[in-house]
Amino acid sequence: MTIFSKELIHKFSLTPTPFYYYDLELLDQTLQSLKQESDRYGFIVHYALKANANPAILKKINALGFGADCVSGNEVARAAETGFPNEKIVFAGVGKSDEEILTGLKNNIHSFNCESLQELEIIDQLAGEMNKIAPIALRLNPNVSANTHKYITTGLEENKFGINQWELDSLVEKLKSLKNIKLIGLHFHIGSQITDLSAFKSLCIKINEFQQWFNKQHIAIPNLNVGGGLGIDYHEPDMHSIVDFASFFKLFHDYLDVYPGQKIHFELGRALVAQCGSLISKVLYIKNGVNTNFMILDAGMTELIRPALYQAYHKIENISNTNGAPQRYDVVGPICESSDCFGKALVMPTTLRGDLIAIRSTGAYGEVMSSNYNLREKVEAYYSDRF
Ligand code: LLP
Repeated sequence: MTIFSKELIHKFSLTPTPFYYYDLELLDQTLQSLKQESDRYGFIVHYALKANANPAILKKINALGFGADCVSGNEVARAAETGFPNEKIVFAGVGKSDEEILTGLKNNIHSFNCESLQELEIIDQLAGEMNKIAPIALRLNPNVSANTHKYITTGLEENKFGINQWELDSLVEKLKSLKNIKLIGLHFHIGSQITDLSAFKSLCIKINEFQQWFNKQHIAIPNLNVGGGLGIDYHEPDMHSIVDFASFFKLFHDYLDVYPGQKIHFELGRALVAQCGSLISKVLYIKNGVNTNFMILDAGMTELIRPALYQAYHKIENISNTNGAPQRYDVVGPICESSDCFGKALVMPTTLRGDLIAIRSTGAYGEVMSSNYNLREKVEAYYSDRF
């Protein structure tokens, strides 16, 4: 069984592979659900461009009034070009270059999410040279475990991100002396692909403690940015094609202390775009190994690096032939690395050269992380509304 219609599979078969395919109807439905559930509490969502920065996708997200979360000067520029209003753009990142900071200042963004004392000084200096006051949200490291892969855990003291609790006293002193920055909020982000919602509850409790500390210092915090990280179901993309936004936002509503007039911001990436994307590939060869058969695809880690980098699972379907006798395959790409493997010992219908394979849930961190390794060309993206 596959959700792809016969007509669509026929069109796929006429299109040079590999390519990314985006189901914009599913994206629309996901965004509608997100809007409904976030509006319920007046929460503000900034889409994390790093997950997928394709203009066709950004336009849809912008059209519904969401903001943008950027981690490079080029992302800030892309968000502005796509029409995201300046006051809805936030800019995070542990290593912002002077040039990138200037891009943020020129675009009068909502806030710089600052990650170190030294960064505060540099933003202050650059803003002063432009006769501007830079709006700052301090990214604090809450030391909360996200129970996710270690490469995408960001909120532990051992991680490079954010300002640690023990630096707060000197930070507040520093803020008094910096005249070209204005503290407008606090920022947190504990990691990505978080499916155990209790991690977000721990985050809320930690944020409440931080807020009490700032309260005692008589420092107002008009904005709280709680980051992103909501995970998706890579195993059952059709059963759970839209994330349970209701439970996610309700948790923050239930556990976060919100002060009068305070605005609550989120930075979601994956949960908006992952399920609408698939990587479509063709089988080049079937090769018999010692304990397994190798299904060698024309897509590789150059088009989707997540399995090689994080041992991430993506559902893999033979969409040409769903009824063959089951066999065991290692599904691999053509790149000269043994890590170029999408899945090991997978039971799939007997597969032949030329069959079409869909690798699911690639809308987030798929195309954006693609590379030209082995001098491969970047591949096309197609959209359901014009395919
Ligand atoms: N905000 C900040 C500060 C972040 O660092 C991230 C993701 C997000 C928001 C959005 O997180 P999301 O809602 O998408 O989980 N390449 C990895 C994921 C890296 C995430 C980096 N930061 C992957 O393929 O799983």
